[in-house]
Amino acid sequence: MSKLTAAIKAVGAYVPDFVLTNKILETMVETNDEWITSRTGIKERRILKEEGQGTSYMAIRAAKDLIRKRNLDPKEIDLVLVATATPDLMVAATAAYTASEIGATNAFSYDLQAACSSFLYGMSTAASYIESGRYKKILLIGADKMSSIIDYTDRTTCIIFGDGAGAVLFEPNTEGLGLQDEFLRSDGIGREFLKMDAGGSMLPASEETVRNKQHYVYQDGKSVFKFAVSNMADVSAKIMERNGLTHEDVHWLVPHQANKRIIDATAKRMGLDAEKVMINIHKYGNTTSATLPLLLHDYEQQLKKGDNLVFAAFGGGFTWGSIYLKWAYNP
Ligand code: UT7
Repeated sequence: MSKLTAAIKAVGAYVPDFVLTNKILETMVETNDEWITSRTGIKERRILKEEGQGTSYMAIRAAKDLIRKRNLDPKEIDLVLVATATPDLMVAATAAYTASEIGATNAFSYDLQAACSSFLYGMSTAASYIESGRYKKILLIGADKMSSIIDYTDRTTCIIFGDGAGAVLFEPNTEGLGLQDEFLRSDGIGREFLKMDAGGSMLPASEETVRNKQHYVYQDGKSVFKFAVSNMADVSAKIMERNGLTHEDVHWLVPHQANKRIIDATAKRMGLDAEKVMINIHKYGNTTSATLPLLLHDYEQQLKKGDNLVFAAFGGGFTWGSIYLKWAYNP
């Protein structure tokens, strides 16, 4: 019997309607469109404005988009994974609520958190379950409501992040398509550079933590940038080398959308031309766990069966890695 691999067989997405442009940000903090565009590549981002709604609101819609496109019976789904750094609630899994709301009544479900690498790591998790032969349909959703943890008076973070969700369906494949190899890493040194200080077990919420604005994301951008550039490029080059891939063999780079300059550096190291690099940072900003599936959604019509895709991400923790995957279907 041929080897069982885990292939992506469907994609779905959801972004909120409200568009927060650089022009609007100019009226909120001391910044300007030229600075944001040249330093990050971002023009606008989406913000979830619906009162009382969290990450699951977007995760559910991305999943329903996939279910509709694929004409899938949600009862066939075995596992729902929600990759997120901004769950609806601290204890109850966002994935459990999402699974129930989409009718995945035969699935188990849980959340997966590794900051901006959550979805990339989730691909590894989903693929491992499939390769084990125990499960046949795994829905992996990357969703984040970053606006819920951003200080909109802090120009160093509020210009970067946006809200959104994307979903993919992993299924077994016997044609050798799907996930081929992965190179995943982490380093706890990064916890000082990109974090939210309060609200966790180390520093629970108090009047003081709220007063000190410790429930917002803090980022030492320059340091994170340096780590991100070298590590994302390293792992991407490494996975090519390990699998004997030249720049001609790689059809697409699917990079985490944190900064256009980090993406350009990674592509350069891989020897890839710009037209092979998936980009949507200009319209969504950094949506944390949602960047990779949103790219797949935006580029789905251009992907062909057998295309070689290299995914790469870098995020808080630090966490980072790359995945080599063969696309499994035509538009
Ligand atoms: O996704 C998870 C991982 N995260 C990342 O990978 C993000 C990595 N970091 C970055 O993308 C970049 O470091 C940032 C986009 C966050 C910042 O860009 P930078 O080129 O590193 O800028 P900087 O922090 O070195 O600041 C340069 C200057 C400073 O002014 P002075 O000290 O040179 O006078 C800042 O105060 O730009 C100033 N500045 C701004 N100016 C206008 C900082 N933020 C802004 C702003 N508008 N929004």
